[in-house]
Amino acid sequence: MLISELETPAVIVDLNVMERNLSRMAEYCRQHQLLLRPHTKSHKIPELAKRQIASGATGITVAKLGEAEVMLNAGITDILIAYPIVGEEKTTHLAKLAEQASISVALDSEEAARGINSAATRQGARIGVLIEMNVGFGRCGLGNENDLLTLAQTITTLPGLEFRGLMFFPGHFGVGPEQRATLRMQVNGFLERSLEIFERAGLPLSIVSGGSTPTAYESGLFHGVNEVRPGMYIFNDRNTVAIDAASLEDCALSVVVTVVSTAVSGRAIVDGGSKTFSYDRYQAGDGRGYGLVKEDTAVEVERFSEEHGHLNVERSERRYRVGDRLSIIPNHVCTTVNMHDEIYGVRGDQVETVWRVEARGKVR
Ligand SMILES: Cc1ncc(COP(=O)(O)O)c(C=O)c1O
Repeated sequence: MLISELETPAVIVDLNVMERNLSRMAEYCRQHQLLLRPHTKSHKIPELAKRQIASGATGITVAKLGEAEVMLNAGITDILIAYPIVGEEKTTHLAKLAEQASISVALDSEEAARGINSAATRQGARIGVLIEMNVGFGRCGLGNENDLLTLAQTITTLPGLEFRGLMFFPGHFGVGPEQRATLRMQVNGFLERSLEIFERAGLPLSIVSGGSTPTAYESGLFHGVNEVRPGMYIFNDRNTVAIDAASLEDCALSVVVTVVSTAVSGRAIVDGGSKTFSYDRYQAGDGRGYGLVKEDTAVEVERFSEEHGHLNVERSERRYRVGDRLSIIPNHVCTTVNMHDEIYGVRGDQVETVWRVEARGKVR
């Protein structure tokens, strides 16, 4: 089948670009002796997780138990749930999954640790734990080394848990390279103090897990980090390009849409709106636009209704007609993928494969 024959809106992935992204990251990690544990929230497709493992990843990362379950059922046996698992139903579910595979979790509280320990001991399971550091993003994580050590010492007394180390998510690094270098100095200060206090306490850190897509190719510059968890790198998106963490040629994913109306002057309306794309803001320049039209960069993806994409074509030299097809790189790839039942792998103008987005919507 040809791409031009796909019913729109359709999410397509250029397989040549995706394969290059996968091998480049795997090679960087090999060269810098980093374990690669990609976050699969960006694609939610077991087949792609398996490709990541085949190209050098040691395991995968997920955010939710439901995602872990999909991946485990597909045969993936080394999974980090980088999210605090709280509440009896969830901890019991976690312990059951841990009977079937090597599962570790990230957490930042004694309450979460004790809850998981109770479920694990009831189930006869042992669950690996990474303690999350807040390195400046201000979402989850403990913000000083003494608190990290105190929680780690408590965890070592809990029989259902195995303390494995530390993890952090530098979510505030969605900025340009120079700003990232400044932020990195602060993170390195915290990392160094943490490594030192654990060493003094005689508590080994087998894993120090860092890294996202914006920091991925700078991971070797973070002190003590021996594992990284980039997610978006498999596809990249407009925001990754905006912060110079990838180029447009590295963007593997786009959404093919059809112009359905040109009745309003200066507008072309396409058949993908907020239920097809994410409404994530653009992180660069004037912050305008919700995607990049590959065929015509003079077009602004101005706003979305649920089923309509409003393209401002006033600055374009092209005359748009009903039935024209365009491909749009979304601002944020992960939230876009999550809205689709399937995505198509393409090479040249041919559709080579179709994947079900099996872990989409797994919010628990
Ligand atoms: C805990 C954690 N690790 C890794 C990632 C992957 O980072 P990125 O989305 O920049 O690829 C995320 C993304 O949200 C995350 O929350």
